[in-house]
Amino acid sequence: MKRPFRIAVTGAAGSISNSLLFRLAAGEVFGTDQPIILQLIERSEAMEALRGLAMELEDCAFPLLHAVRLHDNPEDGFRNVHFAFLIGAKPRGPGMERADLLAANAEIFSRQGRALNDHANPDVKVLVVGNPANTNALIASRNAPDLSPSQFTAMSRLDHNRAKGMIANRTGFNTADIRKVAVWGNHSASQFPDVRNAEAMGEPIWPGLDHDWVDNTFIPRVQKRGAEIIDARGQSSAASAAQGAIDHMRDWYMGTPEGDFVSMCIVSDGSYGIAKGIVFSFPVRCRYGRYQIVQGLPIDDAAQKRLDATEKELLEEKDAVKHLLPAETEDAHNNLSVSLRSGANRYGEEDRDDDSEACVLRTDRVI
Ligand code: NAD
Ligand code: LMR
Repeated sequence: MKRPFRIAVTGAAGSISNSLLFRLAAGEVFGTDQPIILQLIERSEAMEALRGLAMELEDCAFPLLHAVRLHDNPEDGFRNVHFAFLIGAKPRGPGMERADLLAANAEIFSRQGRALNDHANPDVKVLVVGNPANTNALIASRNAPDLSPSQFTAMSRLDHNRAKGMIANRTGFNTADIRKVAVWGNHSASQFPDVRNAEAMGEPIWPGLDHDWVDNTFIPRVQKRGAEIIDARGQSSAASAAQGAIDHMRDWYMGTPEGDFVSMCIVSDGSYGIAKGIVFSFPVRCRYGRYQIVQGLPIDDAAQKRLDATEKELLEEKDAVKHLLPAETEDAHNNLSVSLRSGANRYGEEDRDDDSEACVLRTDRVI
C-alpha cells in the first residue's frame, strides 16, 4: 500500500471546499490507489461547522481517507503536508472589486507563507485559490524563503475551463476534443483568454471563428464570468472553482495530456517578456511533478496589448503589497533557475500525534 499524502486545505468549511473535499477523498486528484490524510484549517469561528463536515467525510466511508485532522491555525495545519490548497479568504461580494480585498487577504497569506516554510514538507506543492489569487500566491511565496518560488502557484484553471466550455458551446465540439486553449495573466478581468492556437480534433479553430465574436463577446465574457456568476447566484462560483482546483493539482502531479497544455499562474521567469517575479498565468505542460512554460506561441500586436495590460495590473498589485514582501526573497523570484527543486515528494518525519484532539478520524491503525 502507498504511504498517504498529507493534504492541507484552508477555508475548509467554505463553499469551494465543500465541493472539493469529497472528491479529494474519492481519489479524483491523486488517483484511486493513493491514500490521503486531510489537514483541514479554518478560522476558530468556523470550527464547529468544520466538525460537521468531518462527520460527513467519515459517513462516506472513503477507503482512501486515512485520517482527518482539524486545525484553527496554519502552523499546525501545514505540518508535514505534501500538497496545500489555500482557499480560505474573504470572497468578493456584489459590486466589489478584487483590489478591495487585497489588504485584508495579504495578512492571511503572509502568515500562511511563513507557516508553510516552517512546517510543510520541503517539496510541498501549493495552489492558491483565495482571491486575489495571483498576488496572494506571491505574498505566500515571498514569505517562504526556504521553499522554491516554483512550489507556489495560483489558479487560472477555472478561467481556462470557462474558455474551453464557451468555445465548445460555440463550435459544437465536445470539450474533450478542444485543446491548446491558454489563459494569460491575472485571475481578474484583465486576463487574456487566448484561442488563437486552439485546436478541435487536431485542426486549428481560429480560421473558422468570427473574430469580432472573440474580441467583443468571448474574451470579455470569460474575463467577467466570476462577476456574472456572483450577480446570478448572489455568491461566487463554488463547484466550478473546486473543479478547477482538482484539474490544476491533478495535472501538476500526474502530468498534462499528450499534445495539450493547461494554464497555471506561476512565478514569471521572464518568458514572453513578462516581468520576472510576478505570479502570472502561462500555458504550461506538466511532467513528473514539474511544469514548464510552453514557449514560442505567436503573439501579435493585439495579443501583446492584452499581455501588457494584465502584466501592468499585476505589477500594481505587487506594488500595493510591497511592505509584505521581504526584500531578501527578491533575488530568488527574479532568478528562478537557481532555485528549482526536485518535483518528487519526500516524506518528513512521521507525525507522532495523530491521536491528538485535532485528529477526528483515523482508519489506518490496523494496516
Ligand atoms: P466561503 O466564504 O464560502 O469560504 C471561505 C472560508 O474561508 C470560510 O469558511 C472562512 O471561515 C475561511 N477562512 C477565512 N479566512 C481564513 C483563514 N485565515 N484561515 C482559514 N480559513 C479562513 O468562500 P468560497 O466561495 O469557498 O471562496 C473562497 C475564496 O476563493 C474566495 O477568495 C473567492 O473569491 C476565491 N475564488 C477563487 C477562484 C479562482 O478561480 N481563483 C474562483 C472562485 C472563488
Ligand atoms: C471567480 O472567478 O468566479 C472568482 O474568482 C470569484 C470572483 O470574485 O470573480
